[in-house]
Amino acid sequence: MQVVSISSLKGGVGKTSVTTGLASAALAAGIPTLVVDLDPHADASTAMGVQPDGQLDIGRMLKSPRRARLGDNVVPSGWLKRTSANGAPAPVLDVAVGSAYTGIYDRPDLGRRDLRRLSHVLATADNYELVLVDCPPSLNGLTRMAWSASDKVTLVAEPGLFSVAGTERTMRAIQLFRQEFAPGLSPAGIIANRVRSGSSEHAFRLAEMQTMFGKLLLTPHIPEQANWQQIQGAAHAVHHWPGDSAKNSSALYDALLQNLLSAGDDSQGRAKR
Ligand SMILES: Nc1ncnc2c1ncn2[C@@H]1O[C@H](COP(=O)(O)OP(=O)(O)O)[C@@H](O)[C@H]1O
Ligand SMILES: [Mg+2]
Repeated sequence: MQVVSISSLKGGVGKTSVTTGLASAALAAGIPTLVVDLDPHADASTAMGVQPDGQLDIGRMLKSPRRARLGDNVVPSGWLKRTSANGAPAPVLDVAVGSAYTGIYDRPDLGRRDLRRLSHVLATADNYELVLVDCPPSLNGLTRMAWSASDKVTLVAEPGLFSVAGTERTMRAIQLFRQEFAPGLSPAGIIANRVRSGSSEHAFRLAEMQTMFGKLLLTPHIPEQANWQQIQGAAHAVHHWPGDSAKNSSALYDALLQNLLSAGDDSQGRAKR
């Protein structure tokens, strides 16, 4: 199992979009996947069409991480209704549902014991090959909790002036966190999102990011896509959406997922929980 956090200092850069794009690619590839919606806004839960039926949300699971059984509280993504089994094993795409309740842990001063809460919740997640953690837009307690439970961290950035600087700051924060709390954590890379192909500013910033971060800048980059909000608003997987632009986007997420899973290969197979 690999646990991958999708984080950034800033909101609105596309963490939830990247999480759902990767989850859609994982579903298409038949990789049993859990999405942990750690953002109190719970956008990933909405975009993945989850309808809880008495399950505890992730905030409540974090509150009692040893008593709340993950397996009893995850909710299957609504996307599964649109997958045809074709005789293959039933696909697995579950969500640990987000809620405002997680906000109680989003403090800057979260102690070492609290930082391990998500690791405890995920201790019984062995039936998944992939766990994607959608983080809130800050480097406070929840994001740090996600990092401490993760094998890899990815950062999402738009190719603009402030987001390049913000990404560099976040990279430094990951290195410091790693030294102190999570020696096995590897920064799996940076995902450039909302790239406009005709924009010379974006081309310039991408080149700058390439120079700064080298192979940590993952490929392919994800372009600005006109119907992306419509797909998310309809709670559809991009792989299930008709039309050429969704098809292109699906292919990009397939490749990105592969590159992400093989990034920093030395960190795989580590038994740390
Ligand atoms: N590649 C993209 N093309 C077009 N719109 C996008 C793209 N990525 C994100 N968006 C839109 O930008 C907004 C913020 O994205 P979101 O994934 O919610 O960011 P975050 O989780 O970092 O706050 C959303 O309305 C989303 O639909
Ligand atoms: Mg989000």
